[in-house]
Amino acid sequence: MVRKVLIAPSILSANFAHLSREVRAVELAGADVLHLDVMDGHFVPNITFGPAVVAALRPQSRLVFDVHLMIEEPDRYLEDFARAGADWISVHAEACRHLHRTITRIKDLGKKAGVALNPATPLSAVEWILPDLDFVLIMSVNPGFGGQKFIPQITEKIRRLSRMIAEAGVPVKIQVDGGIAPETAGKVVAAGAEILVAGSAVFDRGDYASAIQDLRRAAETQQES
Ligand code: DX5
Ligand code: ZN
Repeated sequence: MVRKVLIAPSILSANFAHLSREVRAVELAGADVLHLDVMDGHFVPNITFGPAVVAALRPQSRLVFDVHLMIEEPDRYLEDFARAGADWISVHAEACRHLHRTITRIKDLGKKAGVALNPATPLSAVEWILPDLDFVLIMSVNPGFGGQKFIPQITEKIRRLSRMIAEAGVPVKIQVDGGIAPETAGKVVAAGAEILVAGSAVFDRGDYASAIQDLRRAAETQQES
């Protein structure tokens, strides 16, 4: 069976001087979801933007806004990002002391909740909260920067998570983030990923529509083989 794979361009690699134009361009180019990387300079070495930028972009697009919080103590900002227009919010397991409480808060705000796992974090971090999650974000690079190389053993991690989800019998989706390009998209989809985040593979190409099409084609080809 061919599952529908969602392509989520990450604006981390967009031109920040023309963000609204970039967002509208990827929407027109066929993106399914817009991935927004929030970094605080503590959880990750880089700093990006906060809820004000999400709120400013919200009226510019009808895409699902997927806010990936790479920040310490994300609980402090959940309400702000919900109010700014996030549809999905993911927090890092490594940044949350009471992960289940944080997830419950995201859902109480009416948003879809995801947990992100760094490459070195075991799947057991989400095992006992799976029934309360909408998605798990598997990092296939160390978070902080775009344009890094996909870590190959993450494909097996996705396969195992996929098995864990099937055994639990819950409708949790797997999102993959980092180093996704046509060469890696097929492998992660075959392993069970359904949401592909891609920064440089979309924004470093002049033609966003072809970039998204290439990712989609790679994802679908691999599924059929
Ligand atoms: C990395 C971010 C990613 C980043 C991916 O910390 O979470 O979303 O934009 O960039 P690429 O697709 O270039 O690896
Ligand atoms: Zn991300």
